[in-house]
Amino acid sequence: MSTPPKGKLALPELLAMKQRGEKIVMVTAYDAPGARFAEDAGVEIILVGDTAAMVVLGYEGTTVPVTMDEMLFLTRTVARSARHPIVVGDMPFGSFQVSDEKALENAIRFVKEAGADAIKLEGAGPMVSRVKTIVDAGIAVMGHVGLTPQSATKLGGFKTQGKTAEAAAELVEGALALEEAGAFAVVLEAVPAAVAAEITRQLTVPTIGIGAGRDTDGQVLVYHDLLGLTEGHLPRFVKRYASLSREIRDALEHYAEEVRDGTFPGDEHTYAMPEEELELFRSSINPSATRANAQAKEPRMSASKSLSPAPESEPPLRKTSSP
Ligand code: KIV
Repeated sequence: MSTPPKGKLALPELLAMKQRGEKIVMVTAYDAPGARFAEDAGVEIILVGDTAAMVVLGYEGTTVPVTMDEMLFLTRTVARSARHPIVVGDMPFGSFQVSDEKALENAIRFVKEAGADAIKLEGAGPMVSRVKTIVDAGIAVMGHVGLTPQSATKLGGFKTQGKTAEAAAELVEGALALEEAGAFAVVLEAVPAAVAAEITRQLTVPTIGIGAGRDTDGQVLVYHDLLGLTEGHLPRFVKRYASLSREIRDALEHYAEEVRDGTFPGDEHTYAMPEEELELFRSSINPSATRANAQAKEPRMSASKSLSPAPESEPPLRKTSSP
């Protein structure tokens, strides 16, 4: 692939972090503010996960319906805003299962149309050849084994994987095959900590755990889960670091209350105009109007405010760039 943009974390740095025993931080994001917050927090990887289906697109309990076009739109938004972290686009269900060629075509769309630095796809077994094909074309691929939500129905629901010796061995084999195919990292989702630790020991490339204990090389959580934006049941592996849904609800209720009782907007949110201009304006639409009755009609402006001239140049309505 081409040279990464200036300031972008170089992919081999993840391997170096594993070798130095430094933890890799990954978080999902789906929009520009999320990407900026994640970047400012110093995360190494932002995953534009297909969890978007559930946390932003309103599908309940499934990631399957999200489309390529939706994922490209979200990934483009994140990639535009994240300068340093590696942005990984998550290939949605149906975009890579059909054939190696189809998988490659869609991976190319993530890089070319959405600006992703890498892609992720779920599964091992038949998916290993997809990984190899995409890597051979020069695109960095992150693997994902254990609980792979796109196949949740086949796996018997959103359940811990690899709990028998045989299933655990299969997970190790799958992760090794993904590494062999060229994956630069492998996500381990909802697997016993001991199994994740063993996979992490056997793999040269980093493992990123979610519900996989503390011995993986890095951790990932879904943005909305960790910030307390997701309401209702959360998996055991989620830790909430904030309760933003409560704050948002309170703020919206407060706003609605103030609109209804007339407290908002206040004078400080309201624009004035020079008094002479106001008079000219009023007499142009109603020539018999006098200054006195014009002032009497002026709604809810304090006297000092309505008489003070407008500043020479008004501040912009919105800032044109972030701070
Ligand atoms: O889609 C997603 O958010 C993911 C993470 C949970 C790893 O795949």
